[in-house]
This record gives sequence, structure tokens and C-alpha cells, in this order.
Amino acid sequence: MMLWRKPHFRWILQKTEGKDITCIRLGNVHVIVVNSPELACEFLKKNDAVFASRPITMATEYSGRGFLSVVIAPWGDQWKKMRRVIASEVMSHKRFRSMAKMRVEEADNLVRYIQHQSEANDQVIDVRKSLRYYCGNIIRRMIFGCRHFGMGAKDGGPGPGQEEIEHVEAAFTVLSLIYAFCASDFMPSLRILDIDGHEKIMKKALKVINKYHDPIIEERMRRWRTDGGVDDEPEDILDVFISLKDNKGKPLLTMEEIKAQAGELILATVDNPSNTVEWAMAEMLNQPDILRKAIEELDRVVGADRLVEESDFPNLPYLKACTREALRLHPLAPFNLPHVSTTNTTVAGFFIPKGSQVLLSRVGLGRNPKVWEDPMRFNPDRHLNEKNVELAEPDLRFISFSAGRRGCMGAPLGTMMTYMLLARVLHAFTWSLPAGEESVNLSEEELSLFMAKPLHAFAKPRLSFLN
Ligand code: HEM
Repeated sequence: MMLWRKPHFRWILQKTEGKDITCIRLGNVHVIVVNSPELACEFLKKNDAVFASRPITMATEYSGRGFLSVVIAPWGDQWKKMRRVIASEVMSHKRFRSMAKMRVEEADNLVRYIQHQSEANDQVIDVRKSLRYYCGNIIRRMIFGCRHFGMGAKDGGPGPGQEEIEHVEAAFTVLSLIYAFCASDFMPSLRILDIDGHEKIMKKALKVINKYHDPIIEERMRRWRTDGGVDDEPEDILDVFISLKDNKGKPLLTMEEIKAQAGELILATVDNPSNTVEWAMAEMLNQPDILRKAIEELDRVVGADRLVEESDFPNLPYLKACTREALRLHPLAPFNLPHVSTTNTTVAGFFIPKGSQVLLSRVGLGRNPKVWEDPMRFNPDRHLNEKNVELAEPDLRFISFSAGRRGCMGAPLGTMMTYMLLARVLHAFTWSLPAGEESVNLSEEELSLFMAKPLHAFAKPRLSFLN
């Protein structure tokens, strides 16, 4: 029945609107949609051990090369192994600190790129493209140690080369299909028909990503593991993955695991920060008082003689409230990643059969009028009475990094990137709308929660040392 109600997620949002919890039967699966923070905490804080698995789907089978990588692996040894590797080797405090310089270089490059566009295009900036480019650069440098896969921009400027544009586009295509209610995930006998065409699109997009990743990974593995190996210190995450050893001194990760995990880290990093900041900018351009307040704070804390740095963020509560408000009101996806129950259980009096999929609704929570006053209004001030304004929302009144044992592993990095994006673009440039546009059109795309029209705006450098 659901097959012809497209887009599926809008139909589910409509069916569950206003209800704390709803059970929908999709094919053979009970799908439980949760809109209440109290119930969300029952699932992911009190009972999270039971709901720590993920569904088996066509798209995640491809993206994780047979469920090898952490985000999409069902509960079990493979998930534990990869979660441990990411926690101790990729997202450790030590690694985060050691990559600080690289993050500054990419933040500087973002400013240069916007400045370059403003000179070349008479100041109209493709804001979405610029934000996504920064996110792609951060994670490409973390994993592969490079900003560009090829020679960079044709004009030799700070922008993306054709390779990076293709890479980030393919990543967003893959992301659009992951947990996208593909019919055959709920009725496996349909898989061979590929009714929604998802399988074909998925294969094509992954081919693009693999075209860039695989040769680098294969060459690097050859260097580290054959040719007598190298005794260098690992310089990037790929080196780390390759050089990790198990307790018998054998390589801990296979090539397939490395390829799957490298690809997945790209996906986990490019989307949320860029989407949050695009919406924040759009909302703020429509509410000049909010924009002015954020800029005043930046001028007071940072001044006009230097660019914003990570160490400024504790002193920028209003800026942080703007990003938090955008994440609440404009989540990247309608639902949190699905959690699957591994036994029959009862939660808050509701019987939940084994194998159910629990979807905490990012839209249902973040825009819930029982939780948020005037929920559709972009109002950063509502967060200022929090003790310490941050993106994290452990009480699950909206979903930022979620909670429990499947919670986000990249919260510190994702937080820094999001703050840095908004802080740099607001502090370094004066923004205005293209002629003839009185306000930004805040409609969502029908098939996703992205802005229907990618944000474009004029930027004029506002710090004298940038001129
Ligand atoms: C603002 C940026 C980000 C946001 C809002 C965000 C949000 C989320 C959310 C909602 C989940 C699902 C949690 C659940 O299943 O309950 C998640 C999972 C995850 N995120 Fe993030 N994320 C961000 C950035 C990152 C970054 C930069 C990385 C790493 C490079 C990352 C790595 C992961 C991983 C590995 C998981 C899956 C953990 C598991 O299944 O065990 N995230 N994230």
C-alpha cells in the first residue's frame, strides 16, 4: 500500500503527526515512529541495549560492502570491532587535537573560496556548494591527507576541482537512498524488480566514490603491507587503518573493511553541518535582527583584525544558539537512523516485537508544539536560557547526535565544523539577497528536507585585511 504513496517519508510524517507513538506495518516490518521526547528516552536511554541493531537494507548492503562499517552494521561483533576502532583511533581526543591545524587551513580556504567567487561572479555565491565543499575537504584531508583528488580548480583558485564536485554529489546521492524506505527492504521478494530504481542509482553513485577512493587505498596498502612495509608514523586516518594490528600482530582491518569505513566517514561528515548552516543563513537573511545580533557578538568577541578560531566558540553563545535552532527546525533527514529491536520487549507499556524498527522522528520531535513554543519560528533566543548552549541534545527534545550506544561518534568534530562554518561566513562577509528577491524562499524540496532552491546570496568582504 505504501508503495504508491510517494515520497514515503511525507506520508509517514503526515500519518504520525500529533501522536506520541505510532506503529505502522510496512510489508513484514513493524515500524514504530516516536514524536515524544519522554518516549524517545525510554527507547534510546533506558532500553537502548535492546534497540541497538540496524535494519538489513539494499542501500546499506552496498554502501557498507556487506555491512562492514560502523553506522550501518547490525548489532554484533563487526559493529563492536568497527565502533572500537573509530572511538580509539579516529575520534579520540588526541586525534582531534592533532588535526586542529588542518581544520584551520580548511576554514581559511572556505573564506578564500567565497571571496574568490565574489570577485569572479560579481559577488553571487552558491552558498550550498561552498558549505559542502568545506565539509568534503575536512574529511578528505582527515582520511586521505588531501583536499583534491586531482589538480584542483581549473582556474587554479581555492575552489573545488571537477573531481571534488563529483565526489560530494555522489556522496549526497548515496545519502539520499540510505534508509529511504525502498520497497524491497520491507518486501524482499521485490528486490529483483528494483521498483523504485534505487539499486541502479546506488550502484552508479558508489562507482563514482570508489573511482576516487579505491586506487588511493590500494596503493597505500601496497606501500604499508608489501614492499617490506614502512615504519613511518601514520599521517592520516587511512595510514592508521592500514597500520592497526590485532593482538597477534596481524593487520586488524581488511581492505574491504577499510574501503567501507573510509566511504562511510565521508558520508557521516558532509551532510549535517552544511545543511544546518545553509538553513541558518537562509532564516537569518529573512530576519535581519537575528543576523545583526550574531554579527555584533562576533565583532565584540573576535574583532576586525583576525578570523574566528575554534577557541572563540565558548564566547559565542548566540552564534551557537543559531546553529542549534537550525538543527532543531531543519533537520537533514525526517527520522533518526533506524534502530532495530533484538528481542521482544515492552517499552512504556507498549509491546514491541523483535525485529521492529524504531524511528525517532527528527521532524516530529523538533517541531513538536507540545515541546517547543511556536515551533515553526526560527528563534535562537529560545536556547539562551540553557546552561551551556551546544548542539548536543541529550534529552532528545530534538535529534542532534542522538543518545545511547548507537549515538553519533563524531559529535565534537560535527559541532566544531558547524560552528566554524556559520561563524566564518557571517564574520568575514556581509550578505545580501540577489536583486529582486525580498526574502529567501524557505520551502523544502518535495523529496527531501533540503531547501528547495539552493541558497544563493551576495557576499562582500567585511574585514579590511581581506580586501
Ligand atoms: C553536526 C554533525 C553531525 C550530526 C548532527 C550527526 C548526527 C548523527 C545521528 C543523529 C546519528 C544516529 C544516532 C542513532 O542511531 O541514534 C549519528 C550516528 C553516527 N555518526 Fe554522526 N552526526 C554528525 C557528524 C558526524 C561526524 C563528523 C562523524 C564522523 C566523522 C559522525 C559519525 C557517526 C557515526 C560513526 C555514527 C553511527 C554510530 C553507530 O551506529 O554505532 N557523525 N550521527
